[in-house]
Amino acid sequence: MCNLEPSAMTDPYAVPPAAPGAVPARAPADASRLPVRRLRVDLSRGFDRLWNGGDSFRTHYLNALSMSFPVGEQFFIDSVRTGVSLLPPGEQPRWAGELRGFVGQEATHRFLHGQFNAELERQGLRNRWQGWAEKRIARSAGLHPINHVAVTAGYEHFTAVLATGMLTHPEWLEGASPELALLWRWHAVEESEHKTVAFDLYRAMGGSDLRRILWFVYLGLLFFIESALQTWLNLWHSGRWWRPSTWWQGLRFMLGTRGVWWASLVPLLHYLRPGFHPAQLENAAEMAQWLEAQRSAYAIVGE
Ligand SMILES: [Fe+2]
Ligand SMILES: [Fe+2]
Repeated sequence: MCNLEPSAMTDPYAVPPAAPGAVPARAPADASRLPVRRLRVDLSRGFDRLWNGGDSFRTHYLNALSMSFPVGEQFFIDSVRTGVSLLPPGEQPRWAGELRGFVGQEATHRFLHGQFNAELERQGLRNRWQGWAEKRIARSAGLHPINHVAVTAGYEHFTAVLATGMLTHPEWLEGASPELALLWRWHAVEESEHKTVAFDLYRAMGGSDLRRILWFVYLGLLFFIESALQTWLNLWHSGRWWRPSTWWQGLRFMLGTRGVWWASLVPLLHYLRPGFHPAQLENAAEMAQWLEAQRSAYAIVGE
């Protein structure tokens, strides 16, 4: 069973808001590869029901993804921590920086998406995906931890592919409220930064290509089924299910030439290749551009 840590309920990286005109925190020259950033957003004020440019489908698809994040990210943290603890003692110190950065980034995502999801509940949506994931995690507790790391590596590839799509397709967030566009792109940048951690750990544990590929096929099917079901539930509870415009928006967003499938299918399939490595998924220019353009929107609070 995945237990959300107490810090899921409180902000583990709270920093005071920036004073007007203040110079934002910067990483020192020897900063970790995976800095933990505190985003200057306040989701406690709530947000619009159709926050993503007034587009029902785009809004409720991303809402669905967010609903899966807190439980998933806690599972990833637990899996990677356990995986590192099972490495030979002489190898573990080399993983300390990667582990700290990975855990810090995922814990911060989990906290902010927990706030985001609480607002969705207030808006009348019901998160079923979290319960499905919790049951599955509980059932998998007896498996060897290398399987949990393989599942984490697989989901991390999904999130890295979607993150790359989000950073290279501005229309996915066209018209979104600035605060929420910031949230989603920050998450996309950090998923891109730590996309190799679980994969490299899996290989350091001696994991085979066959095992990671089989897990990826399984969780890929789950992801498509559960993301579709949760999106449909969101559309139903929001009263948008019956509008033809919703399904036109869905077709364009999922199947259009600038849509999710076109951007994601080939990079997702690359994972099935023996010898694949997530570093082959390239979006460094978009990440650097976002980090520079949004420098005043975050503070680095851990390295
Ligand atoms: Fe994350
Ligand atoms: Fe991640």
